[in-house]
Amino acid sequence: MNPKPCDTQNDLPERTRAISIGLLNEHLAGALDLRLQAKQAHWNVKGPQFAALHELFDEVAAGLDESADDLAERVASLGGVAQGTLQAVAQASRLPEYPVDQQWGCDHVQTLSRALAEFGKLVRKAIGDADEAGDAGTADLFTQVSRAADKLLWKVESHGWRA
Ligand SMILES: [Fe+2]
Repeated sequence: MNPKPCDTQNDLPERTRAISIGLLNEHLAGALDLRLQAKQAHWNVKGPQFAALHELFDEVAAGLDESADDLAERVASLGGVAQGTLQAVAQASRLPEYPVDQQWGCDHVQTLSRALAEFGKLVRKAIGDADEAGDAGTADLFTQVSRAADKLLWKVESHGWRA
């Protein structure tokens, strides 16, 4: 899945780059999966909060698109190949599958909140892993991506309501 990094004048050791590339591709898959989950919610949401949620879910997708782009370009910067095809993403994502039969706003808010929280948790763990491998730049990117996921989670959760 992750071939040996190619030659680059980047001074990080090859082993460090290989570890970072593996981590980055893993979370690239999560970000792209989650981006499509947000789009699924954007396209199908129904209910009294339609306008607000339709817009919010698109904002979530845009935020994840930005994170995915940063993760993929860090892979390339380290001499790796970003694994961004649908097939690679489907294989590598560790997020639960999004239910395709739900429509109501409250259900989308709950499902997307859970997925954002899980993505944030997984990326947060990668901060330490990248740091341990000796790649502070990648650890910093994971910090940024997890902070962005936390903010999106806050926005989605704030649209929740008690039954
Ligand atoms: Fe749209």
